[in-house]
Amino acid sequence: MKVRKAVIPVAGLGTRFLPASKAIPKEMLTIVDRPTIQYIVEEVVASGIDQIILVTSEGKSAIENHFDYNFELDTVLREKHKLDLCEEVCNISNLIDIVSVRQKKPLGLGHAIWSTRNVVGNEPFLILLGDDLVQSDTPCCQQMLNLYDQVGESVIAIQHVPRDETHHYGVVEGTAVRDRVYRVDRLIEKPAPGTTDSDMAIIGRYLLQPEIFDLLEKTSPGHGGEIQLTDALLALAKKRPMYAYEFEGTRYDAGDKLGYLKAIIAFALRHRTLAGPFRDHLKEVCSAL
Ligand code: G1P
Repeated sequence: MKVRKAVIPVAGLGTRFLPASKAIPKEMLTIVDRPTIQYIVEEVVASGIDQIILVTSEGKSAIENHFDYNFELDTVLREKHKLDLCEEVCNISNLIDIVSVRQKKPLGLGHAIWSTRNVVGNEPFLILLGDDLVQSDTPCCQQMLNLYDQVGESVIAIQHVPRDETHHYGVVEGTAVRDRVYRVDRLIEKPAPGTTDSDMAIIGRYLLQPEIFDLLEKTSPGHGGEIQLTDALLALAKKRPMYAYEFEGTRYDAGDKLGYLKAIIAFALRHRTLAGPFRDHLKEVCSAL
């Protein structure tokens, strides 16, 4: 069945990014010339998906506004003959069909995903977490869709991380099937040090079968007292095959202050007009260190 929908949960408080995220959603913080969330949406669009479902909460309306048509801005830019800018701004509202669902209580990522069950319906769908930016030649979601076309089962993107960092992630234990592909045996959310030998960390890209919704409904609070998507994934992996996929590209944790700085540098160095002058500036800064 064709994958048509992508869920992007953006309801979180963004505590890792305070004070910057006090009055604006962390997803709206700028990376070079656009908010973080726009990179995520562009990855979805580039992967041929038809609809995005945002899971929002109070205080996140700036995200919806960003992807909406702004009549006043459009009029002013036209009057000032700034047609290129006008077109660029207008294009954002035409990128893709976006609907929003409210997460009524902050009960965790699993609960946020469960909140979309009626909009997603009975079809496979993607999930992208807004903190995880992936820079790659082929969009990470597209890579996952390519694998899904072959295996027809859930696919979770992973990367190998240093073993002393696994407790920051959901971790997959699996058996190699072929290059970059593993059959998932077990999943553990934020494993305590020494409780797993695996270094395969889940990054925020999932392609899931809709059975996940029934399993989320039955999932009790887990790590941190929250309903964890990882726990429901374990239940799903027990019912039908699930694959972990080591994607090609570099992932940046833009929800972390240092990760965010690294993302800015990486995306600036690929920017159409800024890459050249920015590279020159970086060389100057580095030689003065
Ligand atoms: C979430 C998931 C975790 C995953 C991580 C990737 O954790 O629960 O399994 O490894 O995203 O970014 P969070 O970062 O929200 O604590």
